[in-house]
Amino acid sequence: MSACSTENKAPESIRSICCIGAGYVGGPTCAIIAHKCPEITVTVVDKNPIRIAQWNSDKLPIYEPGLQEIVMKCRGKNLFYSTNVEEGVVNADLIFISVNTPTKTYGAGKVETEQILSDLCHPGVCALPRERIENLVTTHADPHSAAANTHAIVVLTEWDEFKAKLGYCNVLHFVTLDYEKMIKSMLRPAWVFDGRKILDHERLMDLGFYTECIGHRYQRPQFYDHCNGHAPELLFSEKSKAFRASRQDN
Ligand SMILES: NC(=O)c1ccc[n+]([C@@H]2O[C@H](COP(=O)([O-])OP(=O)(O)OC[C@H]3O[C@@H](n4cnc5c(N)ncnc54)[C@H](O)[C@@H]3O)[C@@H](O)[C@H]2O)c1
Repeated sequence: MSACSTENKAPESIRSICCIGAGYVGGPTCAIIAHKCPEITVTVVDKNPIRIAQWNSDKLPIYEPGLQEIVMKCRGKNLFYSTNVEEGVVNADLIFISVNTPTKTYGAGKVETEQILSDLCHPGVCALPRERIENLVTTHADPHSAAANTHAIVVLTEWDEFKAKLGYCNVLHFVTLDYEKMIKSMLRPAWVFDGRKILDHERLMDLGFYTECIGHRYQRPQFYDHCNGHAPELLFSEKSKAFRASRQDN
């Protein structure tokens, strides 16, 4: 057998796995592989040194029930987190790619309004007729313009590109959303619903937002006092009233 054919031959058994991307998919999945397969060396590599440092610390970047215990048990034995992508790839029998795929806003593969509408019109997603959905849904390429004249921002992704600029700038340097800019164009009261528990709620409240979050009550003691502990009534501007009326007509 030639050297060349030997090099190209798949290994008889997988002894080492490299996962590129230590995010929500790669980090926990590889921890489980390492836990279930102690004979396999699993190396998770990421270009973000902060994320790797978190995986190598006592405070993991992701919470999943039991994950901390599994990582602590395997880390340093057959589970490794590293920024050395090249070394991880060269030494691996199997490479698992779990890097993020941000929403494309230009070129081939760009997410068009038509794609969003057809996804929403799928019978498994929404039973309303297409005309009604078209009337109810407005799409924007820029989250800042989407927030203008609204009462609430709903965050349902933990992708870094949608995290807050404020409160995260010292941790992640590629974040983009500017909540200070957004609240200036919003109606009052203005809410942020943080469905992924990723935002700096103290900072958001400093800016004047009411905040809600799954699994945690971020609230200042007197925050809802002026409305007897309840969320405040929505105060609609004339423009907003006209907009709502036009929607209800259809
Ligand atoms: N999170 C989910 O629930 C979910 C569900 C289904 C599919 N997916 C898909 O799985 C993939 C990973 O998602 P995720 O949620 O883990 O993303 P994530 O943003 O949490 O993590 C991706 C990681 O990849 C790293 N990365 C990006 N480019 C890299 C490169 N060139 N070299 C090394 N590291 C790099 C980033 O620094 C980041 O830490 C995406 O394609 C996503 O669409 C995610």
